[in-house]
Amino acid sequence: MADVPKDLMDQITRLEELFVVPTEKLKEITDHFVNELTKGLSVEGGSIPMNPTWCMAFPDGYETGTYLALDMGGTNLRVCEITLPEEKGEFDIIQSKYRMPEELKTGTAEELWGYIADCLQQFIEYHHEDEDLQALPLGFTFSYPATQEFIDHGVLQRWTKGFDIEGVEGHDVVPPFEAALAERGVPIKLTALVNDTTGTMIASAYTDPEMKIGCIFGTGCNAAYMEECGSIPKLAHMNLDPSLPMAINCEWGAFDNEHKVLPRTPYDIIIDKESPRPGQQAFEKMIAGLYLGEIFRLVLVDLHGNPDCKIFDGQEIPKLKKAYSLDAGFLSAIEEDPFENLQETADLLQNKLSLVATKPELELIRRLAELIGTRAARLSACGVAAICKKKGWSSCHVGADGSVFNKYPHFKVRGAQALKEILDWPAGKGKGRNDPIEVLPAEDGSGVGAALIAALTLKRVAKGQN
Ligand code: GLC
Repeated sequence: MADVPKDLMDQITRLEELFVVPTEKLKEITDHFVNELTKGLSVEGGSIPMNPTWCMAFPDGYETGTYLALDMGGTNLRVCEITLPEEKGEFDIIQSKYRMPEELKTGTAEELWGYIADCLQQFIEYHHEDEDLQALPLGFTFSYPATQEFIDHGVLQRWTKGFDIEGVEGHDVVPPFEAALAERGVPIKLTALVNDTTGTMIASAYTDPEMKIGCIFGTGCNAAYMEECGSIPKLAHMNLDPSLPMAINCEWGAFDNEHKVLPRTPYDIIIDKESPRPGQQAFEKMIAGLYLGEIFRLVLVDLHGNPDCKIFDGQEIPKLKKAYSLDAGFLSAIEEDPFENLQETADLLQNKLSLVATKPELELIRRLAELIGTRAARLSACGVAAICKKKGWSSCHVGADGSVFNKYPHFKVRGAQALKEILDWPAGKGKGRNDPIEVLPAEDGSGVGAALIAALTLKRVAKGQN
């Protein structure tokens, strides 16, 4: 870095101290994580929910039939109709995307279920006009923590990812959803309520038998893996065959809600305080796409107000002051900008925030984006390593999906490097390809995965194993 004035250089050093997570810390976090995973499965429970999902098998490739899949994501609502082939092969899939209006996230429950039912109705009317339809089985990807006693029910534990709709937490989400469908006469039968991580794991395992974990690194951050019922003390009262598999939706976003081990910065503390659910999703708030841009924004606002450092000197920052005005895509673009002149970064600041930055300021901004993106990737690796350590897996595939995993520059290699450091892999490993634990792009979890889980559920019901 050429000619960075001392005040900015001091700030870069301070930010590095705050955001860099060294190997030893990663190991400490991972060890604590392993304990928390186990605690979550105990009768007393812990801070990570470790929700049994009643998805109790991997697909064997002989799943057949036609299913609907509904994905209630943060930005879009996606409806798919998937026909599973007689023999493992190409799926037949038709799909429609609907915008998920921002107001819905903080509106009423009735508006939410009504809107979703309207979209499903539109889909059925469009694709099955004038047909006399038997109720189609639906796999509903509802990517929030839910307590499930059956696969076709789920009590929302709490909203995450900025959702804040009153009267849903603590209630089974299926009856009001089905009521909204019934009101409109939509011929659909909810067969399975699925978390996106479980869907990801199952869809990926369909094509790759080495797949053991499904992860989402997107607006939120979470993972699912297959546990044995015998290792889930909180299900002991159900007298299930201990050797039966049970997919566990970890809800690891809640890791370290009690702040024992994560290296939180003052900015993470503000994010939490200002969020609709303070005290929750501590891990997620340091990693997930919803928060990366906001962390970055908070640092810049702080630097601007810091008398020891002259960033955007003499400029007003009204746009920068607006909460959640920068998303992870903004950070991605900065990290993708060739370092030589950082022209793209300068343009972004100008166009989006009406700010003019000097070359050294641009360099600080670039370093800040790197620090935030790298921390997110390294911390996520702790979760993956923890599941593998808990299960004693020294090698496996992990299916990952989500905007951060798919689009954030260097996220994969940074994560692979962190896994190498945590698990002491030999030289040459940790590059992402052919590593003992390899995190790979997943198959479509909330589409194909949800359909496969619906198929597996009907198979289980037919065998009288529900
Ligand atoms: C949040 C949700 C979780 C979901 C994850 C990724 O953490 O609570 O259910 O899997 O986001 O979408």
